[in-house]
Amino acid sequence: MKEHVRVLMIGDVSGSAGMGALFLGLSSLVKEEKADFVIINGENAAAGFGITVSDYQNMKKMGADVITSGNHIWQKDEIIPILEGNDDILRPLNYPEPCAGHGYTVRKKGSLSIGVINAQGRVQMSPIDDPFKRVEKVLRDIRKETPLVFVDFHAEDTLEKEAFAFAFDGRVTAVAGTHTHVQTADEKILPGGTAYITDLGLTGVTDAVIGSDPAKSIERQLTQLPIKSEVASGEAHIQGVLIEADAATGKAVSIRRITK
Ligand SMILES: [Fe+2]
Ligand SMILES: [Fe+2]
Repeated sequence: MKEHVRVLMIGDVSGSAGMGALFLGLSSLVKEEKADFVIINGENAAAGFGITVSDYQNMKKMGADVITSGNHIWQKDEIIPILEGNDDILRPLNYPEPCAGHGYTVRKKGSLSIGVINAQGRVQMSPIDDPFKRVEKVLRDIRKETPLVFVDFHAEDTLEKEAFAFAFDGRVTAVAGTHTHVQTADEKILPGGTAYITDLGLTGVTDAVIGSDPAKSIERQLTQLPIKSEVASGEAHIQGVLIEADAATGKAVSIRRITK
């Protein structure tokens, strides 16, 4: 087994521009970074809202080992049977019981066994089940299979994100925030050995308002009307982190921000 494992975690993919950035840059990024495993948040792939079956298939073809998501996962009905039938695409674990799909997985890839959990915060978001308690419940089972556990914590609030990371410090390899689409510069290894970043950032148009057309976003602010945002067009980038971890202990060794 490899001594160190290198995992890419990629921030929310926004619309066709984000998918295009993955198409152009993901395979070379994986090669340059010698990534063993790729986790991509795909909740905004379908024109900003949800993910289609073909987005899912294309992300898999482009090299995603696991696709995570968030609050927008429910916006394209066609993905529901895929969520039910596959555990390489996740929806947040802490949606209440009747919701379709899986919130965590343990994937085998060569000699590697990697756990991925997707959870969602509740501050300034829907009051779904407690993410701390729901993750606590599944973590024991996952750690029986592997110490390598990567969490996409899809949340708005920094305090909630940092508290969540410290709650699981030393028991998961990484907690990476998603949802705000703005990459933060606070990547670090917590005292117990968990890699952390408040937000992975955006895989989408660079000159945009969290991936959306600035003109529409300004109009919305000026009028306070519920103007629907539209995914921006233009030059796009991939954002995320590369995490290196000790395969035997599951502790993170390094975390580095990426914009490509
Ligand atoms: Fe998002
Ligand atoms: Fe979101």
